[in-house]
Amino acid sequence: MSVSIRQIHPVFVGEVSGVDISQPLSREAVAAIEAGMDRYAVLVFHDQKLTDEQQMAFSVNFGTLENPHGGNITRPEERRLQVGMGDVSNLGKDGRPLARDSRQRAFNLGNMLWHSDSSYRAIPAKYSLLSARVVNPVGGNTEFADMRAAYDTLDAATRALVEDLVCEHSLMYSRGSLGFVDYTEEERAMFRPVRQRLVRTHPVSGRKSLYLSAHAGQVIGMPTAEARILLRDLNEHATQPAFVYVHHWRPWDLVIWDNRQVMHRVRRYDEAQPRDMRRTTIAGEAPTTAQVPA
Ligand SMILES: [Fe+2]
Repeated sequence: MSVSIRQIHPVFVGEVSGVDISQPLSREAVAAIEAGMDRYAVLVFHDQKLTDEQQMAFSVNFGTLENPHGGNITRPEERRLQVGMGDVSNLGKDGRPLARDSRQRAFNLGNMLWHSDSSYRAIPAKYSLLSARVVNPVGGNTEFADMRAAYDTLDAATRALVEDLVCEHSLMYSRGSLGFVDYTEEERAMFRPVRQRLVRTHPVSGRKSLYLSAHAGQVIGMPTAEARILLRDLNEHATQPAFVYVHHWRPWDLVIWDNRQVMHRVRRYDEAQPRDMRRTTIAGEAPTTAQVPA
């Protein structure tokens, strides 16, 4: 068996076959998957029955696991999964769906906005790997938008305008847009905005992409209202249906995406029913721009 990849969307996304990722992989198999990521930006694997340990072991073929500190309001004692596993379920520690008025649930609803994982970190994430353990019966698709296609199709004036712009990203911007504005002092410090270039260049392919995210709330040197209109316009352009792939989850799907090249969002689902999705995240290698010292 060897890794084979079939493109399943007109502009990006590959479906991978010929590999069992619960087992240690050869160097060739890892290289084939990484080359597929560089090209397709999203890879879909079906029927990959994984334990959390196997998911983490597969993930570290592509880099180091990101330190989750500062990514959520969930306190360590409230965590359902071990360190290294990101919990993007709707479940509390007791394994039951979170209450409608739960602060954790309100915060997690931010994942329904188009975003790039960890764009609120000074060194943002490389890959995210999401394993479907329990699929919700109603909704819950994940959608991906190809940000290279978004960049490639900008008109010349807009391309020139955005080329060297730098944005501020923070979880407080994405959650703030949903009316989630109450934070402790500790959370405010943790969610302090970071700077990201609006156009980034992929280190391997050299392709440029728009680096947008719901976490972006300011453009350096631009009045806030003007910045937010610009970001909204760019988001609308970037998420037009031609550039979007909709993933309908089956149990034991694993999807990997390159946060440097795509945005994603989850769609609404029946929150009375469980949706158990577990994420590992591969840390990025460098900031996209200089940061303001703390
Ligand atoms: Fe996400």
